[in-house]
Amino acid sequence: MRYMVTGGLGFIGSNFLQRNVVARPNDTFVNVDSCSYAANPKSVESLESAANYRFVRLDLAGGSDVRTVVTEVSPDVIVHFAAESHVDRSIRGPESFLRSNVIATHNLLEAARELWARGREGVRFHHVSTDEVFGSLGSEGAFTEETPYDPSSPYSATKAASDHLVRAWHRTFGLPVTISNCSNNYGPRQHPEKLIPLMILNAKAGHALPVYGEGANIRDWLHVDDHCAAIELILEKGQSGRTYNVGGHGERTNLQVVEAICTSMAAELGRSEASVREQIRYVQDRPGHDFRYAIDPRRIESELGWKPKWTFEDGLRETVRWYVANEAWCASAVNDDYRQWTQTHYAPPQTGTP
Ligand SMILES: NC(=O)c1ccc[n+]([C@@H]2O[C@H](COP(=O)([O-])OP(=O)(O)OC[C@H]3O[C@@H](n4cnc5c(N)ncnc54)[C@H](O)[C@@H]3O)[C@@H](O)[C@H]2O)c1
Repeated sequence: MRYMVTGGLGFIGSNFLQRNVVARPNDTFVNVDSCSYAANPKSVESLESAANYRFVRLDLAGGSDVRTVVTEVSPDVIVHFAAESHVDRSIRGPESFLRSNVIATHNLLEAARELWARGREGVRFHHVSTDEVFGSLGSEGAFTEETPYDPSSPYSATKAASDHLVRAWHRTFGLPVTISNCSNNYGPRQHPEKLIPLMILNAKAGHALPVYGEGANIRDWLHVDDHCAAIELILEKGQSGRTYNVGGHGERTNLQVVEAICTSMAAELGRSEASVREQIRYVQDRPGHDFRYAIDPRRIESELGWKPKWTFEDGLRETVRWYVANEAWCASAVNDDYRQWTQTHYAPPQTGTP
């Protein structure tokens, strides 16, 4: 099989490549990425000498080049991870999200449709999406595949648009597609603008640990390895045209996550837990901040036999250890762009601390 993996210099795409390139020596993997601020070549450095791996730098929003590259690679499977992925950045500047999430997905769908037009067997376009397309939950219930779309942020609105495009290309043109909507991922190689690596790196550096609002918002955490295993199963056994929700039964408030990181960091750094917790700072909440996400993963569990392997506690402890042990990777991720973002983004609350 020839795989085209888009966004493979990012967090989840690089973990997918790390799991598959060596394990499947008879398959080839072409990593297509624009090298945006979120890309980290160090995440796939160990794969560069593999005979079945190749990197192509390409902006998928760029038009005719996409068709040329897809034709040249001639993939059997496209796993589409590439996207602008940070909600806060989408609030500051939505336009790049329209380009990379909507236009790029359109370009890739059109290139795949053209390539596979002559009835090629066994091909698949898998689109990686988010539970944020469903909007926000109250304290009860969970998102199923039937939950109506109700996105809140420019990020989730553009992901919702891309999901609709993928479904439309299936219904209108018969393109063989699957979609997965998953909850918040965590694990190795995640850009430090995201909650868990941000807290780990700031805790280690002695910097503030910025928590939005009162830290009461709830996310349903999924280890990136469990997510990649779900995608592999969907590619192997998933039904074309079908959507699968992927979630790790890992609901926690943001404050619970930050406090658990403080516990692990104290153990790793040989500091008291209280001294790490003292670094917590409550900052002004994100506008339109969805209160709660929770995934009902019963479809993928019953139809494909997927089950998460990681508990949140074990997964988080191992994740903390990974960032502490991989200093060179962390140094490569903490670049000028990241420093500028963290220095300008987190404002103190307007009405005092909760
Ligand atoms: N991280 C999560 O918790 C999470 C949860 C649910 C869904 N998702 C989805 O999973 C996918 C991967 O997320 P991630 O966390 O790995 O993101 P990421 O930001 O770490 O990586 C995205 C990668 O896509 C590349 N990219 C962006 N625009 C591109 C373009 N126009 N052309 C080519 N490459 C481009 C970037 O350079 C980067 O390497 C995204 O589609 C995201 O919406 C992520």
